[in-house]
Amino acid sequence: MQDESKKACVVEAAASGVISRYRDRLPVGEGTPIITLGEGSTPLVFAPRLSDRIGGRVFIKCEGLNPTGSFKDRGMTVAVSKAIERGAQGLICASTGNTSASAAAYAARAGIRCAVILPAGKIASGKLVQAIAHGARIISVDGNFDEALRIVRELGDKGEFAIVNSINPDRIAGQKTAAFEVVDELGDAPDIHILPLGNAGNLTAYAAGYAEYRQLGKARGLPRMIGIQAEHAAPVFHRRVIERPETVASAIRIGNPAGWDAAQRAIDKSHGAVEIVTDEEILKAQSWLARTEGIFVEPASAAPVAGLFRLAKGKRSDLISENVTIVCTCTGHGLKDPEIISARFSQAAPVAATLEAVREVISRS
Ligand code: F0G
Repeated sequence: MQDESKKACVVEAAASGVISRYRDRLPVGEGTPIITLGEGSTPLVFAPRLSDRIGGRVFIKCEGLNPTGSFKDRGMTVAVSKAIERGAQGLICASTGNTSASAAAYAARAGIRCAVILPAGKIASGKLVQAIAHGARIISVDGNFDEALRIVRELGDKGEFAIVNSINPDRIAGQKTAAFEVVDELGDAPDIHILPLGNAGNLTAYAAGYAEYRQLGKARGLPRMIGIQAEHAAPVFHRRVIERPETVASAIRIGNPAGWDAAQRAIDKSHGAVEIVTDEEILKAQSWLARTEGIFVEPASAAPVAGLFRLAKGKRSDLISENVTIVCTCTGHGLKDPEIISARFSQAAPVAATLEAVREVISRS
């Protein structure tokens, strides 16, 4: 009985999601069971005030609106579907939070187990809650993400567990669909694509998506790919491994990215760049975006916005002008990491439940 209801879910949901939308561009076949939560097709929102401020046409790709609140779901649907096709009984990953949340949800959907290896004390609360809610086995290690990923690599794809980090090429294949969506919506590739750079999978995925669409004649050009790292977690920018990366943007607190070489190649090929921003700039950009454009993203996702502000002022300001179209990927939802904002907010004492008392407070602000 239980098995039947699970099967019904898989078949029914296959009408939406990135595999259904872009099946012919993804490594799936007739026999691949499709594990989906309806990911993808996220809004590409024009940002008028951000455009004004930096002097170009800026769109935000709101990846926080995926089913588990981050872009990881695009890759996870493909990685988990393929893992099930190959007979996996479980998933395993290291994570700064979002991959584990996504893996836990798709494992639950597929009816298999999930083990997540996390740097102890460094996961935003919303992401940890997701892994718990979806029933993942959580293993906290006394180390950073790079060490957690090393353990996962050493464990390998042994036994029945499939690795679903972005070192799994099925993840990258799924994530390139975000670039397809951008071109499908804009009618061409943007001039610049800017996004946070952590373990360095997503930048490569976008570059692959744009290249594929150009080959198909759906886009005329290729955007400059610009990756943004946090000042003290910036191995690609500094061209050296950072042993103890630190940043408020815990999602990109990574010192030795697995996708480093591929991302560097994609950046070079596109005449792009890697830039750094400070934690203070990240938090300012997060707050600015929420208050000015109505878009609430997690700190790592505000890094590209902070990067844009820098770019518009700095020595690369020549890249931006009125006719330049810029897409900025905001990778994860703000609700995943509420502590940083709530720590800055102190709730005033309640007032009497009367019209006068409430009026009086409103008139003060
Ligand atoms: N933004 C968010 C919100 C992320 O969670 C990540 C990566 C990135 C950006 C960077 O993307 O690794 O492809 O360069 N998070 C991984 C995780 C590492 O475990 O959730 P990348």
